[in-house]
Amino acid sequence: VAAEKDGHKHFMHKEIFEQPRAVADTIRGRASLEQGDVALDGMELPADYARSLERIVIVACGTSWHAGLSGRQMIESLARVPVEVELASEFRNRDPLVDERVLCLAISQSGETADTLAAVKIARARGARAYAICNVVGSAISRECDGGTLFTRAGPEIGVASTKAFTTQLAALFLMAVRLGRLRGTLSPERARELLEDLRRVPSWMEQMIRQEAQLMPIAKRCAAARDVLFLGRGSEYPVALEGALKLKEISYIHAEGYAAGEMKHGPIALIDEELPVVVLATREPAYEKTLGNMEEVRARGGQVFAVVTEGDTHAASLAEVAITVPPAPPVLVPLLSIIPLQFLAYHVADLKGTDVDQPRNLAKSVTVE
Ligand code: G6P
Repeated sequence: VAAEKDGHKHFMHKEIFEQPRAVADTIRGRASLEQGDVALDGMELPADYARSLERIVIVACGTSWHAGLSGRQMIESLARVPVEVELASEFRNRDPLVDERVLCLAISQSGETADTLAAVKIARARGARAYAICNVVGSAISRECDGGTLFTRAGPEIGVASTKAFTTQLAALFLMAVRLGRLRGTLSPERARELLEDLRRVPSWMEQMIRQEAQLMPIAKRCAAARDVLFLGRGSEYPVALEGALKLKEISYIHAEGYAAGEMKHGPIALIDEELPVVVLATREPAYEKTLGNMEEVRARGGQVFAVVTEGDTHAASLAEVAITVPPAPPVLVPLLSIIPLQFLAYHVADLKGTDVDQPRNLAKSVTVE
């Protein structure tokens, strides 16, 4: 129904544009600048429990698993508790080391993914308390979690390729990381306030990313003609590289690989030639100079570099054929911004190829069987 698309050609395009609103809704009423703290409505997280935690195990699939990888960095850096991120389909099929000192956090847009639901049941059976980040109220996973659910407020996501669900999951994870940091005493109210101020700026920063859509077109044309596309990222940008590659392969059917930039020398470098577009997430995160080195290595081998760089970083931009810029947000929040050009890239490549953007072949919006 064209009306529901509000003038957009596809739901995915509309949902990319909805992200500033979806993230603002997810934060609303939860982040308190006055108190320098967060209210996790729906999650029951007593202070003594948060302090005694030994480990957090995140279980998820697909895009939600990528959100979990970012969540690990947020929680470990802000709340100083070790986090493992598990593919639910792997976790459920082995004999995982989980007990009552472990907090199990399931991340699921639909709340119905069979593997994630099974992983939660196993963790609970072994004594862990289970929590969820879900987009669908009343969903099976949210009902199974005894610790409660922090709901993302993305609204219904129709496109099979997840966009606004992903960025709202990142916002929810950031809220949880700040709350855990406050409860565990690793974040002062002042530091928490600064972090929450940055979080509140994310929706307008996202608008800036959306305004750069047209600049993606030359990259999209190049990628549409390619057989493979490589995505590289390091630190906070590594999960973004994985998610960018997943988006592209899901809807354009072009083989795409996301790789940790530091691992390029252990394999993907063999693929580089004039035919291979390489998308590099080169925003200023702590080890980003090394990522600039990767860009030089790709160029030296004739590869075409497209980059996402920090605003004002002319050096990084000069190493790329086309550079998209990200506002100077703290590295833990950059994934909410740097993913947007990669969503647009996948979208436009698929649209140029004429594939069924909203309902790609063989994929389902939610996978309720094993
Ligand atoms: C399917 C969807 C993906 C999603 C994954 C996990 O593969 O096509 O977009 O990331 O399931 O779904 P969930 O609802 O658990 O986040």
